[in-house]
Amino acid sequence: MHGTLADERTGNAPDLRRIGLHPNYWHPLAVAKDLKKGKTLGVSFAGDPIVLVRTESGKVFALEDRCSHRQMPLSCGVVAGEVVKCCYHAWSFNAEGRCAIPYLPKDAQRPRGVRPYPCREAYGLIFVFPGDIALADQVPFPDLPEVDAPTHKTMFFTRKVNCHYSFMHENLMDMNHQFLHRRWLKRVKPTLLESRRADGLVEAKYKFELTEGEAPLGAKIMLGGEQDDPANEKFDIMTVTTRYPYQTLQLRRPEDDENVLDLWSDYVPLDREQRTHQTFGFLSIRKPDRFAFLLTAFWPVIRYFTESVFTEDRFAVEMEQRAWDAQGADWNQEILPFIMDLRALLVTQGVPINARASGASFAQAAE
Ligand code: FES
Ligand SMILES: [Fe+2]
Repeated sequence: MHGTLADERTGNAPDLRRIGLHPNYWHPLAVAKDLKKGKTLGVSFAGDPIVLVRTESGKVFALEDRCSHRQMPLSCGVVAGEVVKCCYHAWSFNAEGRCAIPYLPKDAQRPRGVRPYPCREAYGLIFVFPGDIALADQVPFPDLPEVDAPTHKTMFFTRKVNCHYSFMHENLMDMNHQFLHRRWLKRVKPTLLESRRADGLVEAKYKFELTEGEAPLGAKIMLGGEQDDPANEKFDIMTVTTRYPYQTLQLRRPEDDENVLDLWSDYVPLDREQRTHQTFGFLSIRKPDRFAFLLTAFWPVIRYFTESVFTEDRFAVEMEQRAWDAQGADWNQEILPFIMDLRALLVTQGVPINARASGASFAQAAE
């Protein structure tokens, strides 16, 4: 059932859930503090096992997580100085993946090492470039100025979600699913203002306002104070953008030239079939000019609100994945043109799941 790309119901269109996330980007694979000095951490990108190593001097490197001798995971190994030693026969591997063997016979040829991955630590995360090494320097690294800025307070979150990454993009961009969050966002009314598709991105802009009545405290704080007063016609502009492969959400008051809230996320496939992923996200809120301490005081409320909303979204997207698994194809009926654009973007920028190792995009592979 899962062998072909085509959606059996729509004929020619490739099934988005069979499209892999393109590996030629910088993707976060771990939280930096989870990798202590002199330790290893086994992670994965779309079924490729990767070991992250923090050397005794504190440097981080990433290698294929299989010893080139007998395939023992190097994440079971031991860090010694600036190398990792396999736990089985003690072959040791440096940051470039080259190996040294303690008992190599004098006349024996040195065996091949393992694949190294470009690796960078930033924003408290460890990013890896799982694709073509030659491209790593040319591909822009995520630029998240709000995350470390003193003007903002940032919440980091990461969760394993049992669904294909594409469901996350669709879920966030289609704001008509507020009904799912009716416990929290009953009074929130999103109205689509415009959408656009450009090279490598799809964007939807909404007017986001609170209708009459009391909104939950978390929503009020995030949407900015007194908006539940009907006499006060304040509203926010919410912009949701998928700039492949990342997704952002921004909230801005129409009269402001800065965002009140910036969300950035990447949905990193874990298994080879890409039916599970790890969400990595930053939610940055600009500190108000006056009473900035209030943001800190209400931080637990905002976190509770955010986590509650995320839990509902996770429930929905996991149900969607469950249906896809049972039906063996994408039976969803999409009616919004910009969500169709988003789906097309994810298809054309991605790679067919089984051919992902080639690094070719779907468009190239289809030629
Ligand atoms: S399996 Fe790694 S050293 Fe033998
Ligand atoms: Fe949602």
